[in-house]
Amino acid sequence: MPATIIVDAFWGDSGKGKVTAHLSRLTDAGLAVRAGVGTNAGASFTLDDDTVAKHRQVPTAWVNPRTTLAVGPGVLVHPDILAEEVDRYAIADRIVVDPRCGLITEQDLAEDAADEFLREVVGTSGSGVGPARARYVNRKAQRVADLTTVPARVADVAELANTRSAAGETVLVEGAQGTQLSLSLSFEYPCTTVKNCTSAAAMDDVGLNWRQVSNVVLVVKALPSRVGEGPLPHEMSHAEAVRRGIAEYGVNTGRPRRKASRIDDELLRYATLVNGPTQVALTFADHLDPRVKGVRHRDGLTDEVRAVIAQVERITEAPVTMVDTGPYLSDLVDLPTD
Ligand code: IMP
Ligand code: MG
Repeated sequence: MPATIIVDAFWGDSGKGKVTAHLSRLTDAGLAVRAGVGTNAGASFTLDDDTVAKHRQVPTAWVNPRTTLAVGPGVLVHPDILAEEVDRYAIADRIVVDPRCGLITEQDLAEDAADEFLREVVGTSGSGVGPARARYVNRKAQRVADLTTVPARVADVAELANTRSAAGETVLVEGAQGTQLSLSLSFEYPCTTVKNCTSAAAMDDVGLNWRQVSNVVLVVKALPSRVGEGPLPHEMSHAEAVRRGIAEYGVNTGRPRRKASRIDDELLRYATLVNGPTQVALTFADHLDPRVKGVRHRDGLTDEVRAVIAQVERITEAPVTMVDTGPYLSDLVDLPTD
């Protein structure tokens, strides 16, 4: 199986990182590459020993010690965050960063924080990605190639990903953010991030050619959420989320996430249209129905969850192959198609 792209249908925070980590074990992936904007991402899941893994920069596939890790050339790198995560997960000997990655500097962070429009109208994560990407696009950025020390091997990640995949290795591409936050493909500009967040964008972030891609996993959050400004169809009140015990807070910012009470059919249809999924991971199913919390076998799925699986399969015309049921990496049901 060559490359599999993992992307989110809505506004992120759907467990793409957990899905990718799980797939790295399930497929014993040879390589996992982070795509997406940069350190505005925040992935988290809990390991069996109760440690909570939180990532902003490195691929979550570090959980498989046999997987080589990489950061694609289209991803913005914050050198200190990279260094801290490489150190925390002891992955210095198996992570590769592309020299062409643009850097996020202290100046970018300061500009992001000082910009009232970005703060109030867009509601950015404050991680400096907007100013950094603007600088990069203006060809004035510093890049990984300009650093004197990098806590990783520096090499051409597009070369690595295409050759490994062509040789038959499983390559995972971990997207970040979500389709509805896409810069030009969302209908919610300016309440977007700073590039597209689709399967094609993730391929481009890595430099992977389309012939290498055999799978696109669309991650669909059972009760979608949104941090920051912009429309959220079927939004429930924060009080309701608290009452149901499903209130969420951002990994990076601690901001409460706005929550929807159901999946919007039209937005899922559009996410399907622009991403072309071959399979779907339904995540946070325990928020939809608390009775499935921690369920790890398909027999434990309830009629409520099965109804949403049917809804999602009808709209995406792709099979739901995974159902996420809780914060632990092992809280997951695999639904193999054969
Ligand atoms: P920025 O990408 O930090 O400039 O933020 C722009 C918008 O995208 C804001 O509404 C953020 O909350 C949202 N956003 C950016 N990255 C993520 C993410 O990884 N998960 C969820 N929302 C995100
Ligand atoms: Mg997140």
